[in-house]
Amino acid sequence: MCGIVGYIGTEQAAPIILDGLARLEYRGYDSAGIAVYNGQDIQITKSVGRLKVLEELTHGGATMPGCIGIGHTRWATHGAPSQVNAHPHFNKEITVAVVHNGIIENYIQLRNRLSKRGYEFVSETDTEVVAHMLDYYYTGDPLETIAKVLHRIEGSYALGVIFASHPDELFAARKDSPLIVGQKENGCFIASDVPAILRYTRKVYYMENQEIVRLKKDSLNFYNFDEEEISKESVTIEWDANAAEKGGYEHFMLKEMYEQPKTVTDTLLPRFKDNKIEIEELGMTDEEMKEIKKIHIVACGSAYHAGMTGKYVLEGLARIPVEIDLASEFRYRNPILEEGAMVMVISQSGETADTLAALRESQERGFKVLGIVNVVGSSIAREADNVMYTWAGPEIAVATTKAYSAQLIALYLLAMKFAEVRGTVSAEVLEEMKEDLKKLPDQIEMLLNNKERIQRFANRYIGAKDVFFIGRGIDYAISLEGSLKLKEISYIHSEAYAAGELKHGTISLIEEGTLVTAVATQQDLFAKTVSNIVEVKARGAFVLAVTNEGNTEIEKAADYVIYLPQTNSYFTNSLAIIPLQLFGYYVAVGKGCDVDKPRNLAKSVTVE
Ligand code: F6R
Repeated sequence: MCGIVGYIGTEQAAPIILDGLARLEYRGYDSAGIAVYNGQDIQITKSVGRLKVLEELTHGGATMPGCIGIGHTRWATHGAPSQVNAHPHFNKEITVAVVHNGIIENYIQLRNRLSKRGYEFVSETDTEVVAHMLDYYYTGDPLETIAKVLHRIEGSYALGVIFASHPDELFAARKDSPLIVGQKENGCFIASDVPAILRYTRKVYYMENQEIVRLKKDSLNFYNFDEEEISKESVTIEWDANAAEKGGYEHFMLKEMYEQPKTVTDTLLPRFKDNKIEIEELGMTDEEMKEIKKIHIVACGSAYHAGMTGKYVLEGLARIPVEIDLASEFRYRNPILEEGAMVMVISQSGETADTLAALRESQERGFKVLGIVNVVGSSIAREADNVMYTWAGPEIAVATTKAYSAQLIALYLLAMKFAEVRGTVSAEVLEEMKEDLKKLPDQIEMLLNNKERIQRFANRYIGAKDVFFIGRGIDYAISLEGSLKLKEISYIHSEAYAAGELKHGTISLIEEGTLVTAVATQQDLFAKTVSNIVEVKARGAFVLAVTNEGNTEIEKAADYVIYLPQTNSYFTNSLAIIPLQLFGYYVAVGKGCDVDKPRNLAKSVTVE
């Protein structure tokens, strides 16, 4: 979960690399470093902390002249964030420098072997072995040397490499960690993700597993690990460069919350043909949809919470039993997948290591996997048998908002499609649901525009110690996500409970003034949730309730009420999440937290 950038061309490399790294800081930001060949030597500068420290240290790259270089922004895995552990890593004579995203799993054996041969290690990282191996196996031919090394390392990697002996060539290789290559006139780039290079070029090549690329200022050559040249097609990136920038908002998170009406529309509309739901990318015939016996949803974090909503919606509408698993559990619990089961993995980044492993585990057992993915060309998107994209565009804030909303929409569409084909919901009801779906973007916009009330309320709670979120059914699923949003960015301890579960222990934590957020959008469960509100009120809780317009009787029990516009009961999470996201955001802003980059977190969790 680090970001790498490299450049070779006719311009100064360091400012381009620093600029690219700044756009990849969501991948890691505990330290950063850059290596540039200055015409004589490879010069390396590293620093601990945010990228701006490195920018200041190098005067925006001015102290590092040269037209070829590599850079890295780190999220520590092996070895604490420190200057020596920051990348690039290098050999003793600094004739080779390496940046790496991923994990070298056999680095301890390799390190021991290299130590016996006299190599000295200065860092605690797994990556440093790669630099010394490139030195040890160096044949004078960089491609051959890299291939030799790659045959000996195990694990995941996107690597960028420069050799002082070949100052007009930059090399990169990929296995199980994302890597793209960009090209423009008189310059080529490598990067972990597209936003890093979007202001320079839209012509991009996605590196596949076990591929190496040689970049020169005006040419690219791709190879497999056997050093055989391969041909690759470029793609033209269509996104607006501004989509990867903050666009006037104080934080990426706020901007991304405001993009939700568009995200929902973009995810919905391509699947409506003449008012019929068509999900071509499912790659399933009606007959196959009818025969699904069970669905396994596997994901992590917020994507798991979206999956939890998906379980209620798929079971409720299509009457298909759904099992939901955290990917980190699924992959190791020897799951029982029976004939007729369908596996869905959900991931914004498409790079989450556990989710990817769950996908592979399912495929190894002979099951096709549907990926609900946001990042086009990501590992999960490429490896899943079928992909349903969420079309949320690049999400930069570490805490997901718009991608989560898009995942909900994808799951509603799937549930409705299955329900239609299986005849579990009448055509009439489905038509009404479609109309409700189409209203969601405007309703979300309306809730976003009423943010002041939430903002004022949030300001009262910036000193809170513990916050509880409760709800039943679908409202429990949204409580999980509301609670995660609050805690991950504001660092306030918060937990979500199925409202009926409180009295089995947790209610003892409620004391005078404890904030309890109660979500009560399910009419058939409304009275039950109100009873739970009364119970916590009796123990001194202050209750913020989120419910549907018209449920004014809740005001007798709750202290502060947020009303949601009317929609189908299966879609209420798409509305209820808006005030909960805003609440978490404004509490975090009020506390002065680094909203877009909460401590200890990274956007893309590419290690388990
Ligand atoms: C929380 C958040 C994470 C991710 C999780 C899975 O705001 O963003 O919990 O949802 O790390 O990531 P993806 O969806 O990229 O697989």
